[in-house]
Amino acid sequence: MTVGTTKLHLAAAMGVTAQKKTVLITGVSRGLGRALALELARRGHSVIGCARSSDKVSSLQTELASLNPAAASSSSSASPHLITTVDVRSDTSIKELAKHVVESRLIPDIIVNNAGTINQNNKIWDIPAEEFDMVSAYCATKWAVEGLTRSVAKELPLGLAVIALSPGVVNTDMLTSCFGSSAALYQSPESWAPRAATMILSLTTEDNGASLTV
Ligand SMILES: NC(=O)c1ccc[n+]([C@@H]2O[C@H](COP(=O)([O-])OP(=O)(O)OC[C@H]3O[C@@H](n4cnc5c(N)ncnc54)[C@H](OP(=O)(O)O)[C@@H]3O)[C@@H](O)[C@H]2O)c1
Repeated sequence: MTVGTTKLHLAAAMGVTAQKKTVLITGVSRGLGRALALELARRGHSVIGCARSSDKVSSLQTELASLNPAAASSSSSASPHLITTVDVRSDTSIKELAKHVVESRLIPDIIVNNAGTINQNNKIWDIPAEEFDMVSAYCATKWAVEGLTRSVAKELPLGLAVIALSPGVVNTDMLTSCFGSSAALYQSPESWAPRAATMILSLTTEDNGASLTV
């Protein structure tokens, strides 16, 4: 779900869609996660975001602050966002993030499990064993996320929903690693993000267990 996924995996506590939401997104340093974080912030929602690259995390913090200069110029606790450096593979780091989120009283309405990585573009028989162990084969994880989503959907308490969301094909670093220069033929994260944000914000408990595409 966190590494090598092909689907964004959403867990959402659904409520009234017009309200300002708090959305936690993993993998916000570039690509889809970054574009989605900025789109949601521009719409007035609060974003909790994480990734490993501290320079890119800082750059997103600065860009988010520039969208809301009033909060940036007052105390840091006034910021509606919480962007931090976390490796989602580390249970300890995730626990620390959860603690930080609770202490900041920024409880997420929606969680977008977006962080992902991909094996080097290779025929399956050419994927080295250690790489296969690390990320599994990318397409296999697609089915794993869908199966996990259906299973978790049955266990969730009332009022929560989990959805497997395919973003479509978007020109990011990940796509370039697969498609090379042809990645430029596909939509940019910035043109994808408004549609994705609208869709994610409009999900309801009736979507629990579904596999959807932006
Ligand atoms: N682009 C597409 O066409 C496409 C199609 C289908 C599915 N997807 C899925 O959409 C998601 C985003 O893809 P993308 O194209 O935006 O990829 P990307 O450009 O490679 O970005 C991946 C993001 O995940 C973060 N990340 C990776 N491992 C992490 C870890 N262990 N802990 C925290 N953050 C981590 C990366 O940040 P750091 O390296 O800084 O940690 C980066 O911000 C992925 O799950 C992907 O499988 C994309």
